[in-house]
Amino acid sequence: MPRLAVFHADNLAVLRALPDACVDLIYIDPPFNTGRVQRRTHVATVRDDNGDRIGFKGQLYRTIRGETSGYDDRFDDFLGFLQPRMEEAYRILSPEGSLFFHLDYREIHYCKVMLDGIFGRASFINEIIWAYDYGARSKTRWPAKHDNILWYAKNPESFTFNFDAMDRIPYMAPGLVGPRKAALGKTPTDVWWHTIVCPNSREKTGYATQKPRAIIDRIVKVHSRPGDVLCDFFAGSGTLGESAAALGRSALLVDSNIEAVQVMKRRFAGLDVLWRRGSPRASSSLELLKEAAAADREAFRAAEQTAAEKAWAGAESADSAEADGPAAASPQKRTRKAASPRKDAAGAASSRKRATTKKTARKTTRTEGGSASPRMAGRRAAAKGG
Ligand SMILES: C[S@@+](CC[C@H](N)C(=O)[O-])C[C@H]1O[C@@H](n2cnc3c(N)ncnc32)[C@H](O)[C@@H]1O
Repeated sequence: MPRLAVFHADNLAVLRALPDACVDLIYIDPPFNTGRVQRRTHVATVRDDNGDRIGFKGQLYRTIRGETSGYDDRFDDFLGFLQPRMEEAYRILSPEGSLFFHLDYREIHYCKVMLDGIFGRASFINEIIWAYDYGARSKTRWPAKHDNILWYAKNPESFTFNFDAMDRIPYMAPGLVGPRKAALGKTPTDVWWHTIVCPNSREKTGYATQKPRAIIDRIVKVHSRPGDVLCDFFAGSGTLGESAAALGRSALLVDSNIEAVQVMKRRFAGLDVLWRRGSPRASSSLELLKEAAAADREAFRAAEQTAAEKAWAGAESADSAEADGPAAASPQKRTRKAASPRKDAAGAASSRKRATTKKTARKTTRTEGGSASPRMAGRRAAAKGG
């Protein structure tokens, strides 16, 4: 069953052909309105004693220039272009879905005002700064080395946020936190340090403005669940699609540039993909993706239930062993451990492990709340009568 559908079309036509509330996560990285044509030439190097570049251990390499790909990134009315597309994005998002909107300093402030108007100001949850440190450095101003990613939740009171699925990063001063914490690493903040896609990495597709998998993977893991349907309607080289396929999600991708579609064809070779031209069958393609997604979700639920049952069995045997001792776990704590509907299977098992001492139990509550947002924590407390 296909897990990816790629449309070679103007995204507005595709979006308009989709039903309401049909996708669970939207990540988009629209043109940045840089005022120029974005071009990239694929460059490879081979060892050659007559080559023009000096490389590893002083050896000579010859440069081979491949295809050039690109798209026009000049708009007279950038907001006028985006507004109808963002209104459609809001409409097609599922009730617990989120939008991730990736741009840079040039237009992000205007776009935030526009998105506040469409989603409501309360739906703005975070501005993520993706900081990198690569490329030329201006000598007349502070070199701009970050992008901005706005996160909007359709419903700010209830959204997918899998805290336990977050990757961990090294502590800056591991000596201050002790070996257990240092080995585990810390959870990221709203500033994400990550290099751009390196020119000589295997990840590189040659498409101008390709974004790194690690950035997209973090968004996909934390803000969607296996079996969800994702959407990127400014797909470019298809980074979101690759991430979705690798992480057990489905994805609907759109790009109006034939070169982007050609790059995706190479990138998704070996995957079951629906290739579409224009928008007429957008809705039926989505139905096919949803069938695949339903099967994925069912398999994930079964795995989650098995893990939860194992965790319960482990908890009960630990509780009965401790029952006569002063360290017996309270029933309230036990309920919290099992009650979170949004926690994944691995999280269930690992949180259970961490809750063996009073000190770590406090941390587990925050983790199991499934959100760092005070609003979410408050809502959960109310639901539990806390
Ligand atoms: C910044 S790039 C996306 C890069 C992508 N995130 C990646 O990792 O490769 C923006 C893309 O939007 C596409 N695009 C621009 N206007 C479009 C439209 N009206 N409909 C569909 N795609 C469009 C461009 O062709 C370009 O590939």
